Amino acid sequence: MTEPHAIETMLLEERRYPPSEEFASQANARPGIYDEPFEAFWEREGRERLTWFEPFSELYEWKPPYAKWFLGGKLNVCFNCVDRHVEAGNGEKVAFHWEGEAAGELRSISYADLQRDVVRFANALKKLGVRKGTPVAIYMGMVPELPVAMLACTRLGAPHTVIFGGFSADSLSDRANDMECEVLITQDEAWRRGTAVPLKKVADEAMSAAPGIRASVVLRRTGNDVAMHEGRDHWWHELEEGEPDDAASCPCEPMDSEDLLFLMYTSGTTAKPKGIVHTTGGYLCGVATTHNYIFDLKPESDVYWCAADIGWITGHSYIVYGPLCNGATSVLYEGTPDFPDKDRWWEIVERYGVTILYTAPTAIRSHMKWGPEYAQKHDLSSLRLLGSVGEPINPEAWIWYREHIGGDRTPIVDTWWQTETGMVMITPLPGVTTLKPGSATKPFPGVSAGVFDERGNEVGPGGGGYLVLKRPWPAMLRGIFKDPKRYEETYWSKYENVYFAGDGARIDRDEDFWLLGRVDDVMNVSGHRISTIEVESALVDHQDVAEAAVTSRKDATTGEAIVAYVTLKSSAEPSVEKLQELRDHVAKKIGPIAKPANIVFTPELPKTRSGKIMRRLLRDVAENRPLGDTTTLADPTVVNEIQQRAEDEQGADEA
Ligand code: PRX
Repeated sequence: MTEPHAIETMLLEERRYPPSEEFASQANARPGIYDEPFEAFWEREGRERLTWFEPFSELYEWKPPYAKWFLGGKLNVCFNCVDRHVEAGNGEKVAFHWEGEAAGELRSISYADLQRDVVRFANALKKLGVRKGTPVAIYMGMVPELPVAMLACTRLGAPHTVIFGGFSADSLSDRANDMECEVLITQDEAWRRGTAVPLKKVADEAMSAAPGIRASVVLRRTGNDVAMHEGRDHWWHELEEGEPDDAASCPCEPMDSEDLLFLMYTSGTTAKPKGIVHTTGGYLCGVATTHNYIFDLKPESDVYWCAADIGWITGHSYIVYGPLCNGATSVLYEGTPDFPDKDRWWEIVERYGVTILYTAPTAIRSHMKWGPEYAQKHDLSSLRLLGSVGEPINPEAWIWYREHIGGDRTPIVDTWWQTETGMVMITPLPGVTTLKPGSATKPFPGVSAGVFDERGNEVGPGGGGYLVLKRPWPAMLRGIFKDPKRYEETYWSKYENVYFAGDGARIDRDEDFWLLGRVDDVMNVSGHRISTIEVESALVDHQDVAEAAVTSRKDATTGEAIVAYVTLKSSAEPSVEKLQELRDHVAKKIGPIAKPANIVFTPELPKTRSGKIMRRLLRDVAENRPLGDTTTLADPTVVNEIQQRAEDEQGADEA
């Protein structure tokens, strides 16, 4: 958990960036925004920002730990994100400037185009029996048809779960089975760094383990041959052939505020991912409101780019639902930042005149490593605001981002939130907040956060402890799908009626928040949450592994890197090949993002006398730190041996 030196570093960070007069005078957020009572704030945002088929009668209901928002209200997410903009005469406005990974593959999709695409595809889905309540899994890359598929589901009232295209067949089938998905939407292959990623092939493997999926829809993307299962698999273009695309042919289903909108699976402290439940009205209000104030969105003039993947919560909230609800013009990019060269992002910023860029510290650190010359090749003067999300941003990366990308002029919003919170919770408001490199600063208006000590006392300015959220917010998770017990235990058992986020935090004398990373067995690799237990179970699933313990060490680019300590069965020998085999096995079980950077083979793991693996010690070893208290170890010599092996193998097995 919280490293003492991290706290010291932050105490030393004294640079301040007050808002410029110029930004402040045009900002969506006004200084008085924090003074409004939270009910009045959300009541107004709910009424004015969304279009309701039937107005809500009650703002919220809080029966801890269960909240409901905008009770009695009826609305449709697709109507709010698409139809109403067309009806208001903004059909010709660009919703997405899409850019494929291959050079020259560009498409600008207007709101009217988007409506036609969504309606046609929703009509096609109806032929497969998709209707209100039908659970749909989506496994795609960053193509325009991904938001089309999501919006078509919401139009019909069918809840979706999007599974990141880098996940394995097992991860896909686990999620689809948990949600009881009946239909899967995928594509033949996806482009990534010039190679074709075989999504349909993985989907086939997943479907053989997910018998509930009775039909699949396959988008033709690369055009390479893929196997099609007669009667089950349908080509996207064939299925929608002849389907009408006028809005009236497929009206938006009126949904209750509290109807399920989607599940997003995320790692917790056990091997089984949690299906985080997000519902309709509160989620949409939360993401649209935060998107408007935090990104200072001017839909008439801004070109907004969130460079995340739609397969994660950031993409759901801040590529698809928030921006579209606000009528934004966004950039959608299929590929990686270094393809064909390391200036690809900056070329995109220049081409579209991007004004707002939202990305993760791990990406910023990669660009830092490559050097500022790639950014310098392009005109980035259109940028007026930068954002960061996914992990704590170190002050060095913050300053680099501002200087080399933001021309030393743009504010940076460091936004703290989670899959569970649905929307940004702690963040500066550009034009209002004085920025501090490395601090996410203040709770968003209408949000109440605090830092508690072990016993549940507020630590107050200057103190460090656990980050908590003290009252419900519109986009909060409504639970863990089919697992109320786990929901209550994970978030609500540490403190009474207060949400425990699982992050360490410090609060300074100005009452600004500094996030210090996870305090549980969840790792954060390149802004992605991976549980130590999940990787451990993937490792012990391998026939040669007797026991495994997983921890992480700091990494200059990815934030954290996974380190695994593995005891092999006596029938197997440690070798470089074995190491590679184990890494591949983890990639196959979970996905390439979960591959350990290092694997240390050891005859034994350090355990307490009661048999509990001492991960803290392993972490000390992984980070080359002096070992903490070893007195509770059953066999203290074990750890010395591991230390020796770790030193021997360090670097040799680096990814
Ligand atoms: O540890 C925090 C870190 O990411 C976790 C949430 O991960 P996930 O649900 O995958 O969502 C990521 C995108 C919202 C948090 O518990 N985290 C996220 N943003 C920040 C952060 N840590 C510090 N500063 C941030 N801005």
